[in-house]
Amino acid sequence: MITALYPGSFDPLTHGHLDIVDRAARIFDRVVIAVLENPSKQPLFTTDERVRMIRESLGERPGVEVSTFDGLTIGFARQVGARVIVRGLRAVSDFESEFQMALMNRRLEPEVTTVFIPTSLRHLFLSSSLIKELAEFGGDISEFVPASVVEPLKQRLTSREHKHEHP
Ligand code: PNS
Repeated sequence: MITALYPGSFDPLTHGHLDIVDRAARIFDRVVIAVLENPSKQPLFTTDERVRMIRESLGERPGVEVSTFDGLTIGFARQVGARVIVRGLRAVSDFESEFQMALMNRRLEPEVTTVFIPTSLRHLFLSSSLIKELAEFGGDISEFVPASVVEPLKQRLTSREHKHEHP
């Protein structure tokens, strides 16, 4: 049985992430989506919120689980018995940092291999940060994120705007 770890910030989950989950689930027996608890960039959603939105969006996907982790990805890969780390690749611009991370992870644990899955063409330009920007300026995000993310994202950004207005 091959377990693959799919680590990320997922702040928030997009259709692009789900596409990678589905592709990974067709290849590996078990896919563990791992939400990083303490990313250096200040997340818009708490870890619990991100996990809840992911669970809701997943629905019935046998073999796919969601967990949280902090510290090194490779440590968590060992913990869940993953031999593979999955990362989605969009464009060449993703490649350099992803390659560096993959090599560092391999240095730390030679038994775990990073597998890059190219995203589908329709998700090529998608990123969580772009979605947040789009939502912040009132753009329609429903095409890019699962239904369970649409309302929480709109609400979070609206309440943030109000905070800016009345500090
Ligand atoms: O969705 P993201 O923000 O692109 O995911 C980045 C993530 C979480 C995969 C990466 O930052 C990570 O693995 N962080 C944990 C610390 C770590 O193991 N760093 C890489 C080796 S030093």
